[in-house]
Amino acid sequence: MGNEMRIVTKGSKDHYIFTDVVEVEGQETTILDITNLDSIRKIVSEKDIKAIVNCAAWTNVDGAEAPEKYELVELLNAKAPENLAIAMKEVNGLLIHISTDYVFGGDPYNTPCKEDQKGTPTGVYGLTKLHGEQAIQNTGVDYLIFRTAWLYSEFGKNFVKTMLNLTATKPQLKVVFDQVGTPTYAYDLAAAIFDIVENRKYIGNTGIYHYSNEGVCSWFDFTKMIAEYSGQTTCNIQPCHSDEFPSPVKRPAFSVLDKTKVKDTFGIKVPYWTDSLRKCMSNMK
Ligand SMILES: NC(=O)c1ccc[n+]([C@@H]2O[C@H](COP(=O)([O-])OP(=O)(O)OC[C@H]3O[C@@H](n4cnc5c(N)ncnc54)[C@H](OP(=O)(O)O)[C@@H]3O)[C@@H](O)[C@H]2O)c1
Repeated sequence: MGNEMRIVTKGSKDHYIFTDVVEVEGQETTILDITNLDSIRKIVSEKDIKAIVNCAAWTNVDGAEAPEKYELVELLNAKAPENLAIAMKEVNGLLIHISTDYVFGGDPYNTPCKEDQKGTPTGVYGLTKLHGEQAIQNTGVDYLIFRTAWLYSEFGKNFVKTMLNLTATKPQLKVVFDQVGTPTYAYDLAAAIFDIVENRKYIGNTGIYHYSNEGVCSWFDFTKMIAEYSGQTTCNIQPCHSDEFPSPVKRPAFSVLDKTKVKDTFGIKVPYWTDSLRKCMSNMK
């Protein structure tokens, strides 16, 4: 997500700086550990920061379930966003934060989730992300929280890259069809955030918003499209149930996000998921 923000903000009338906890190869990076409030305050003051877009998090959903990791996951997903919110509140700035569809899933439902729906996370990742949202709200900062889902891009490790590799190397593959949501090309979300910041559309419109690509699919359908667009025909891809893959965490069976609010408020056009998948795979090439 952070790498896509680098791309969309090129040519902005604003000045963006990009931070990470470690040096990013080949990219200009300011080192910042967002678990350290004083370090955030220092950069905000030195660089006269007016807004922060927080793309950092603990994102390993299975790994978050290890009891010895809980403190670290909570630190990254709840305390660190609170730090950013405190630092922005002190300078009357804006915090833009990315959250997840995994704040939902504990209650069985089959209609798209709205922003004001009660959070019902099924695991530690979703729970700590929900804590992060609440911590930001409690500081009183001006904030935009975008809950997104099933993010992929040409950068880093993600489902599209994993399935490109597996469908090219395995004769057969089973993928779950009983978890339904919407994939999101991180570029699309980054472009939407950039539009909102560049054109100051956030003024008077702070709050929580849902943003994924349009449409609905299962991980099985997603994989079938990845194989089709890559021209991969040798792998036999079959649907299966989640219980065929032992996992430390129960994932939401249905976590489709209702995007009415983000489209109505900001006049954003959201691309259909297969169109964006095709675009990302073409960019990967
Ligand atoms: N991936 C998904 O499917 C998905 C779905 C819904 C929502 N989201 C949310 O979308 C956002 C972006 O996700 P992503 O997939 O782009 O995440 P990602 O690829 O895992 O990137 C997270 C980044 O945070 C950095 N980071 C870790 N600890 C840090 C610290 N103490 N200070 C500063 N930076 C730190 C990581 O650095 P290192 O790599 O060096 O550790 C990494 O660059 C997250 O908020 C995530 O919860 C993701």
